[in-house]
Amino acid sequence: MFSSDVIQRLADCQKVAVLTGAGVSAESGISTFRGVGGQWDKLDPMKLATPEAFAKDPKFVWEWYEARRRQVAEAKPNIGHEVLAGMENFFSQFTLITQNVDRLHHQAGSHHPIELHGSLWMVRCMAGCGEWEDRHELVDLPPKCPHCGALLRPGVVWFGEGLPPEAWEEAEKAAVECEAFLVIGTSALVYPAAALPEQALKRGKLVLEINPEETPLSSKVGLSVRAKAGEALFSLRDELEKVASVDNKQKGGAQ
Ligand code: OAD
Repeated sequence: MFSSDVIQRLADCQKVAVLTGAGVSAESGISTFRGVGGQWDKLDPMKLATPEAFAKDPKFVWEWYEARRRQVAEAKPNIGHEVLAGMENFFSQFTLITQNVDRLHHQAGSHHPIELHGSLWMVRCMAGCGEWEDRHELVDLPPKCPHCGALLRPGVVWFGEGLPPEAWEEAEKAAVECEAFLVIGTSALVYPAAALPEQALKRGKLVLEINPEETPLSSKVGLSVRAKAGEALFSLRDELEKVASVDNKQKGGAQ
């Protein structure tokens, strides 16, 4: 799946960044957005994931988000999430950037995933009274702010909105400073997130993609592996561990 040259180059890196998308959670039973059977195949995102859609029909939008929250509440992280959590111990500087709003990376043990598109579990007061919190249980739909009574909205980024500035700054820094950048389970169509691997490519970094389908990035990266995230990451961990154990033995022998 990965050539020994690529594995050695990756194993030699200190600073690694990863961008994940919906494909990483597909093996946890959460459907992706695009493609056959995807969320946007069944529903028009402009009617669900925009400030205009929410202003027009907050109950409809909330019902859809609440159904997704219930689906995600039942889901468990898969081997792909687990391998990525473990990579924090393998590389001295490891930055996990995600477009996913399901928090499965957190559940798998990743310490600080950068959430570019927010979280399904956060709610925010539309009146800007400062209410912005993690809320798993909602009594009525659409929910109201307990402080000022205004509408609460899902704490995700919608089409036409900017990304959380701190998250974006941190993600860009990682893309610019890393030695290798992995792009996993994303169609690489939604900007600005899709600009991150492009920035790494522009600077000549090793960029690897894992996706069962071809994307606009596939022909530009160093290696594009056609596989599911879980199986490819399992194999990647195995290969990296083999290289690390050989390297350790060689270092030990030289002492
Ligand atoms: P998409 O649904 O656009 O793309 C999912 C990608 O995952 C596709 O390229 C699939 O080929 C790939 N895929 C499917 N199963 C996989 C598996 N088992 N392993 C690895 N890859 C697999 O999802 P995103 O790229 O995450 O934004 O979408 C980006 C943004 O568009 C989302 O964050 C969301 C959406 O609209 C907002 O809601 C603002």
